[in-house]
Amino acid sequence: MSNGKIPVIIDCDPGIDDAVALALAFGCGKLDVLGVTTVAGNTTGENTHRNARKFLSFIGADVEVARGADKPILRPLVTAPQVHGETGLGGLGEPGDEDPDASGRSAFDLITDTLLNHPEKVTLVPVGPLTNLAIALLAKPEIKRKIEKIVLMGGAALEGNRTPAAEFNIYVDPEAARIVFESGVPITMIGLDVTHKALIYPDEIEALRRFGRIGRTVAELMDFYGNHYRKRFEGNPIHDALAVAAVFEPDIVSTRHLSVCVETSAEFTLGRTVVDFRGVTGREPNCHVALGVDRERFIELIFNAVKYLEQMAQ
Ligand code: RIB
Ligand code: CA
Repeated sequence: MSNGKIPVIIDCDPGIDDAVALALAFGCGKLDVLGVTTVAGNTTGENTHRNARKFLSFIGADVEVARGADKPILRPLVTAPQVHGETGLGGLGEPGDEDPDASGRSAFDLITDTLLNHPEKVTLVPVGPLTNLAIALLAKPEIKRKIEKIVLMGGAALEGNRTPAAEFNIYVDPEAARIVFESGVPITMIGLDVTHKALIYPDEIEALRRFGRIGRTVAELMDFYGNHYRKRFEGNPIHDALAVAAVFEPDIVSTRHLSVCVETSAEFTLGRTVVDFRGVTGREPNCHVALGVDRERFIELIFNAVKYLEQMAQ
């Protein structure tokens, strides 16, 4: 491991919960983030790239941020302004503020060059639509031998969120998801089955607000995010941060090794991650599907990471 830390590449579409995932990744002290790549999803590719650079600069993270796909492989882009706001970070995503320099490389080059040249295998943490990863796997399949595993936020064994059947990240680019799930690379799927249990509650958000500048900003992001989620939950599901936590603390979720296929052609179930719990398809298991989660430990990890970032910012 790089200096005792787990080498990772994070692919994201900030996105409010993506931002919290980045704060956890840089504040946990357990990950060596070799690069951050961005993809269109929660908002446009321009916005996700700017949001990632701005938020990483805000939390004091010095890392290359490379822009990826502005649309899915075959389909028009579907975004989620009702959850993340038009610019993708609630009120924080407004363009025009200081906009840290962008990387000269594309997400494709960052992912493939880093994997092929890093001395160790690298864990990939995609927390948006899987377009960038699918393109890299198709164009340079030789990267597979350098991937330790993929720990992705996406999918649902049970209920979807973008449609009754499909979770947003998979729904936006189902063809990309199918390429990833059929790649043969070890996958851990952090889906809605656990992220809808790993909620942060209002009193915990108020505790964050008292930590300092970064905690206050994360709390403000949670305030905006709650406008959407309060209709359904007592707290906010910080989907993407749980995928990051599962990289350095795998036991925070309980999983089953199951066959997962992605629906790419049906009218009502497009983007469904079809999880074969009883092995009736006879297909080989290809994914560790997260089904249980230690919510309290998850919130503790987020608190510790924000406190660390606050200390580093002083
Ligand atoms: O369904 C939740 C996922 O979709 C999260 O990654 C969120 O950021 C959105 O991209
Ligand atoms: Ca996301």
